[in-house]
Amino acid sequence: MGNVLLIHGPNLHLLGIREEEHYGRETLKDIDRAIQRVAGELGLSLKLFQFNSEGEIIDCITKEKDWADVLIVNPGAYTHTSIAIMDCVKACKIPTIEVHLSNIYKREDFRRVSYISREAVGVISGFGKTSYLLALHAASFILKEKEKV
Ligand code: DQA
Repeated sequence: MGNVLLIHGPNLHLLGIREEEHYGRETLKDIDRAIQRVAGELGLSLKLFQFNSEGEIIDCITKEKDWADVLIVNPGAYTHTSIAIMDCVKACKIPTIEVHLSNIYKREDFRRVSYISREAVGVISGFGKTSYLLALHAASFILKEKEKV
């Protein structure tokens, strides 16, 4: 059991019509349905959001920092630019799993830099929708390890 805050960043509301070769054909609704199912199977309480702006992501992490045991975040393009989100993750001290649908290391050079991963427990990148589902399993693992101490 544990509380997981999951945030999809900018342009992920466009999944289904956006660069299918990188992001597949499923919509965010399809992906969210799978996320909710797996979270339920793992006994996790889930809060799920999508934001297009950096400030909204920061506000949400800040607001939920006392509730969330684990943060799963796909920061979209902010991955590669946002010192502000990195600072927020650092300040809020929620164990964080960074997620990407595509393999960011296989694409343009600018996508190889992630500010957020400096503060993340780990990164899951390149498995499409399954990246999120793996992240839920990783969250469950983190929570179980926490219980042991
Ligand atoms: C992404 C990868 C980012 O580089 C890109 O800007 C996105 C999506 C992914 O899930 O693969 O918006 O985070």
